[in-house]
Amino acid sequence: MINRIGVLTSGGDAPGMNAAIRAVVRTAAQHGVEVIGIRKGYSGLLEMDTKGLGVDDVADIINTGGTFLYTARSEEFRTAEGQRKAADNVRELGLDGLVVIGGDGSFEGARRLSELGINVMGIPVTIDNDIACTDYTIGFDTAVNTAMEAIDRIRETSISHERVSIVEVMGRGAGYISLWCGIANGAEDILIPERYDGNMEALIEKLVNHILENRRRGKTHHVIVNAEGIGHTHEIAEELEKRTGIGTRTSIIGYLQRGGSPTAKDRVLASLMGAYSVERFIEGGSSEIVAVHNDKIISYDITEALGMYKDIDAFMYKVSGLMVRS
Ligand code: F6P
Repeated sequence: MINRIGVLTSGGDAPGMNAAIRAVVRTAAQHGVEVIGIRKGYSGLLEMDTKGLGVDDVADIINTGGTFLYTARSEEFRTAEGQRKAADNVRELGLDGLVVIGGDGSFEGARRLSELGINVMGIPVTIDNDIACTDYTIGFDTAVNTAMEAIDRIRETSISHERVSIVEVMGRGAGYISLWCGIANGAEDILIPERYDGNMEALIEKLVNHILENRRRGKTHHVIVNAEGIGHTHEIAEELEKRTGIGTRTSIIGYLQRGGSPTAKDRVLASLMGAYSVERFIEGGSSEIVAVHNDKIISYDITEALGMYKDIDAFMYKVSGLMVRS
């Protein structure tokens, strides 16, 4: 029997977190299940920083970015002792299940809790889109659109000044935002960590040749989208300017990508996944990660989910190479 569940947001925030919490609370209310909101992720669980949540508490938040439950990355929770204390606190709160809204680090913590006897449901929310078991993570669409608009603006000034611009987008170890923006913005070059061999000299040489070749053809600007996972954006820019003699500017979009009102896609998927997580508890599901697969909402056993691997789509990567502007 599921009578009371907890919900927390953990790791980097992403647009759609609030919509997911709202869906959890509203679905639980429909089933007569009580919801305890835990503030500041696993830190709040360790500190018992909680608040009962009813449908009125989640009114007017579907359209907002950030997370009204706050989020944190907890050092204490990384320790075995911290994890035991967190599991004890879940029991003390009388929770029959815990919904964890976050990314891969948060799910690793959830898996540890499941090993300690806690029934967890994970909802994948991260702008990085780097959770292997799901085709899509909530927040990605909003982040890509925010970055795309910023890069459109950067292109305009790059054109006016006949400059090279290198723009760094987020994605710790993942190139999804870079790849999507690269195609959507018609970038002259798209850099992603999944296809970078670590040879910086070779990368710079390739960029220099591309910039000079485009200049010879009469093209007077050049936009490079770089992923945070490759980084070194300022160093690359310095080298490009030195070797090409062309003014080169850097823009690191950064946290701008993490905020903002979620797109329709993020609001809808957050609503579906949030509802699904609660329904799975009620159906007797035990420690799972909710996922989107071929446009359907499904869930995987948490250990199976965390053992999965996903690479960027080969066709998409090929197309990104065909679309770069020459
Ligand atoms: O995982 C999401 C993300 O935004 C990454 O793209 C980025 O590397 C990281 O979080 C930044 O985390 P923090 O909020 O701890 O600086």
